Amino acid sequence: MSHPEIDRIRARFLEAMAAVKTTADLKAVRDNFVGRTKGELNNALKQISFQPPAMRPAFGAAANALKHEIDQTLELRELELVAEMPAAGGLDITLPGRLPVVGRRHPLTQVRERVEDIFAAMGYQIIEGPEIEDDWHNFEALNMPPEHPARDMQDTLYLQEPLGSTGSTGSASSTGAAAATPGNLRNPSNSSNRPGTLLRTHTSGMQIRYMESNPPPVRLIAPGRVYRRDNFDATHTPMFTQVEGLVVDEGISLADLKGTLNAFAERFFDGKVKTRFRPSFFPYTEPSAEMDVECQGCHGKGCGLCKQTGWMEILGCGMVHPAVFENVGYDAGKYTGFAFGIGMERLALRLFGVDDIRMFFENDLRFLEQLAP
Ligand code: DAH
Repeated sequence: MSHPEIDRIRARFLEAMAAVKTTADLKAVRDNFVGRTKGELNNALKQISFQPPAMRPAFGAAANALKHEIDQTLELRELELVAEMPAAGGLDITLPGRLPVVGRRHPLTQVRERVEDIFAAMGYQIIEGPEIEDDWHNFEALNMPPEHPARDMQDTLYLQEPLGSTGSTGSASSTGAAAATPGNLRNPSNSSNRPGTLLRTHTSGMQIRYMESNPPPVRLIAPGRVYRRDNFDATHTPMFTQVEGLVVDEGISLADLKGTLNAFAERFFDGKVKTRFRPSFFPYTEPSAEMDVECQGCHGKGCGLCKQTGWMEILGCGMVHPAVFENVGYDAGKYTGFAFGIGMERLALRLFGVDDIRMFFENDLRFLEQLAP
């Protein structure tokens, strides 16, 4: 049964259906053709009374047939569209991927690796040792007996029970040297009941640990964490990082010390940097000095970073005191050596132009990402 007006509506409907891509398109077509208010077919049916009476039955039948056809077509297309939609909670492969957060090296790790590379290239071995140390290695063997005033500047946490088994050797990363000297005989953690186990206050104890079990010559660095009863402010933290250095051989002089540390500073700061050595005091070196480098922020003119001095202190150093050699059983008449202790955070402040040491420990990614390699 057909009717020209109904056939025109069918043609328009089929055309509209061909363009349907989404359920929203489908809804629009439904509204336009069979919707109660503006549906074309419904409106046509409302006009039935304007048809000549003879045509009315055919018109009504054709319109009802089309209504049925449209309803079925819409239903089928809807099923198809729903089948194409991703299941709820399913994988939508059209979404852009999520980038995994890739870890970067912490600024202090970058500094440590830079220091290690420079000294490794100069033939130094890299050793590590315990952060829980005994009094002998941290103080006494370094020429700081119990009442020595230099201990005051390095107060730390003591363990109530001494650890009898802190061991006596550093773990050398490359050494074929045989244990040579029984220098540990005076170790008070063996012989006294004084609580002698502490969080190490500097890495200098690694000098003793290494020399106790290895004969000269020595050329090492020992990076690691150290602890002090310090304030937590822009220039101090109760935990920080050092790199110890030690060179012992026959004929080592102050010139070797200066040459080595100047070469280090140049490589670390990528080019010629002015350095200066100021006389200082450490019980385990004689003479002793502190080394400053020209401020990297202002190149000597004076700025906030260097407190207007134009210089930045980065390390303590000196020629190994003969008493230290005696404590580890080295022949102080035959051997000389130099030692140094670099503050890693100080190097990091200088290298990155940061003015608050605490930022290295706050784990704020907004800060750390700026210094990522
Ligand atoms: N241990 C010193 C400190 O923590 C740094 C130091 C100075 C290390 C002189 C040395 C040295 O090896 O010879 O401040």
